[in-house]
Amino acid sequence: MKLNQFYNDLKDSYLFHTVAVRTAEYAAKNPGKKIIKLGIGDVTLPLPAVCVKAMKAACDEQLTKEGFVGYGPYEGFEFLRNAISAYYGSRGTKIKASEIFVSDGAKSDIGNILDLFDRDNAVLVPDPVYPVYVDTNVMCGRKIIYANGNEDNGFLPAPDPSVKADLIYICSPNNPTGAAYDKKGLEAWVKYALDVGALILYDAAYEAFITKDLPRSVYEIDGARGCAIEFCSFSKNAGFTGERCAWCVLPDELVFEGKKLSSMWLRRQSTRYNGAPYVIQRGAAAALTEEGLLQIKKNLDYYKENAKIIGGCLDRLGIYYTGGVNSPYIWLKCPDGLGSWEFFDLLLDKCQVVGTPGEGFGECGKGFFRLTSFGSHENTLEAVGRIEEAFR
Ligand code: MLT
Repeated sequence: MKLNQFYNDLKDSYLFHTVAVRTAEYAAKNPGKKIIKLGIGDVTLPLPAVCVKAMKAACDEQLTKEGFVGYGPYEGFEFLRNAISAYYGSRGTKIKASEIFVSDGAKSDIGNILDLFDRDNAVLVPDPVYPVYVDTNVMCGRKIIYANGNEDNGFLPAPDPSVKADLIYICSPNNPTGAAYDKKGLEAWVKYALDVGALILYDAAYEAFITKDLPRSVYEIDGARGCAIEFCSFSKNAGFTGERCAWCVLPDELVFEGKKLSSMWLRRQSTRYNGAPYVIQRGAAAALTEEGLLQIKKNLDYYKENAKIIGGCLDRLGIYYTGGVNSPYIWLKCPDGLGSWEFFDLLLDKCQVVGTPGEGFGECGKGFFRLTSFGSHENTLEAVGRIEEAFR
């Protein structure tokens, strides 16, 4: 038996796992100190009531012969695929229910989709970005090219025609920087992908946070149906981080080497996966009803208020930051030229506030730091008070 040698090329532990371990070590050494966690992007508000009601009703159905549901369809239940299709439709984007595939998470889909592609493909990854894109490709030994994000390009790198990529990741609004592409920015990527015959893997997990007139789906761009798969999730909008439900879109036009990608994906999913639970899919469908969308908006407004509170504190301290407007994340420059992990330790030690070191999202994240607005108002205010006291 031989092990997958590519695991040797990974960092020892997944970013958020490292943060959790270091936080736990600090907590063990400092009992009684109240630690405020603004690290991992996990929601804190309860689920929208309409979702819980739907899940309870779906549970009750399981007590009856008529209502009992066993294995569901591999692609997801029709009621949810139709609801997602209508969600796109309400914004003027036409996606057929048959092009939508439901799953237990955008993170899983983003990793699993790689089963469809040859190892020799060159992968283009923006830097900084959600570490799952890099790690899942390192695990199978794929070559990675980076598109650097920085203060000069507003953390929104543009395609470089001299670089030849086969798979391109785009996360907009970006995790961790909160930067979101406008139509022109995305058009450039779609044009590049079509020109070089590449496929865009578009992570739209934070689309619901977009407030400005910016694309919420890659399919708002002409030509994207022929070069992009979109991933989206119920985690950050409806707060389903614990429930687990997501979807991806594989338009009919995605045909490479005579093969329809959606058929390959169905082959993959039906072989390795039995679908998200029925009860959860009922809850997810309720999130997309009129009432559900209103309840989601209320929760997102609450988190946006937290982002404003954090931004206000950084403004007063004169610390550079981006994000927090079309995104739940605030991306700040570590004060006094500190490194990301140095600032992580300092913030934990001085303020007992946990954030995420920017360099965990890539080389370009060095010297930066991410705070999330997903905490409670009370904790966010307390964290901000402590930070202001310590760094003014
Ligand atoms: C994050 O904090 O970046 C996210 O919560 C991670 C995730 O969604 O998997």
